[in-house]
Amino acid sequence: MNSNAKTLTVTVDRFDGDTHYQTTHEVPTRDNQTVLDVVTWIQQHDDPTLAYRFACRVGMCGSCAMNVNGEPKWSCRTHVSKVVSGDASLSIAPLRNMPVLRDLSVDMSEFFDKWTQAVGYFVPTKTKDDPLSEITSDDRARAKANQSIECINCGICYSACDVVAANDAYLGPAALNRAWTLMNDERDGARQTRLDAVSGDAGCHNCHSQHGCSTYCPNLLAPASSIAGLKRQTLMNLLPWGPSDD
Ligand code: SF4
Ligand code: SF4
Ligand code: FES
Repeated sequence: MNSNAKTLTVTVDRFDGDTHYQTTHEVPTRDNQTVLDVVTWIQQHDDPTLAYRFACRVGMCGSCAMNVNGEPKWSCRTHVSKVVSGDASLSIAPLRNMPVLRDLSVDMSEFFDKWTQAVGYFVPTKTKDDPLSEITSDDRARAKANQSIECINCGICYSACDVVAANDAYLGPAALNRAWTLMNDERDGARQTRLDAVSGDAGCHNCHSQHGCSTYCPNLLAPASSIAGLKRQTLMNLLPWGPSDD
């Protein structure tokens, strides 16, 4: 950071659909500045062609993730002061493991397709005519499901995963984390189908359990632990007395 001129040198990886290149910008610094503030300043004051994605600015929507100094981060909740020290500059790039559409915007289609492949959606066992299920605050089963439920679909864990980088069929930490959440949801009616989906060639057994996903999850979820749960459940299912909930 250039403290005299109070500007920060920012390098951005760019892609225009044909060519990859970099641009460098001198961005005025200010207190409590986030990486998303920096990117927005560049787009508004230096280069209106810069493409990036955001919506809520408060860590809810999961759309603003990008690589910041080589690590995947939610840019709206990442303060510049936490990732830049001294005269260091800031480098910004799109997330890994997803095709770049333009500049910092990646194509998340495959990421979301994998949620579907992992049966990462709720399958109800009741209809709208049934009475509402009562869930009490001390419900232990619900507490287990809640442990991994607060995923905002940001793709950060997916971007951090070396197995996804090496094997693009691998379902990845976010889809598997969602699958585990639903496996623990007593109201769901597709647990056996889901277990079959996540234990195939592209599924949970590819995970090497080194927790890169959990290290970077901005919502402090632990997808690697969820995947370990799926692995255990798969093995349990091979036993004659194993679970079958469909
Ligand atoms: S623990 Fe598994 S899912 Fe998480 S980053 Fe490593 S290989 Fe990927
Ligand atoms: S598990 Fe965490 S890092 Fe992965 S998509 Fe969900 S919120 Fe993002
Ligand atoms: S803009 Fe919504 S999470 Fe960052």
